[in-house]
Amino acid sequence: MTKDKKTSEDILMEAARSAKKNSYSPYSGFPVGAAVVLEDGQIFTGTNIENASYGLTCCAERVALFSARTASSAKIMALAISIGPDGAKLPERSLVPCGACRQVMSEFLAPETPVHVDGNRSFTMDELLPHCFKL
Ligand code: THU
Repeated sequence: MTKDKKTSEDILMEAARSAKKNSYSPYSGFPVGAAVVLEDGQIFTGTNIENASYGLTCCAERVALFSARTASSAKIMALAISIGPDGAKLPERSLVPCGACRQVMSEFLAPETPVHVDGNRSFTMDELLPHCFKL
């Protein structure tokens, strides 16, 4: 049976998958896309942007969050992430946001905010980074 009604989660995940198509990842060959939805319904996306000086790479999640915050201070209601090449069968350990992104996410997402990962389950921010550092 196919689902005939798209949920807001489906729409957000489609935005993340679409952003992944523009990934600039010539060094790793590992594209990632992310999308956040704000309380007013606006969606902002990001993709990973790599650099020949590898450490300057910015992950998709951070690009999406910084893009959203640049445009609006509205609350972020959810984040969706699509990780890896289309059709790749990745282990579950790869289907989660990296630690650096979790810390940045915790700055803008409430502890109960959902983080949907394509091909994996949905997590809350607090599950991904309990006891996160705050000032
Ligand atoms: N990457 C992300 O965009 N998000 C993550 O949470 C994990 C890793 C990117 C960084 C790099 O361009 C590629 O995936 C391989 O690590």
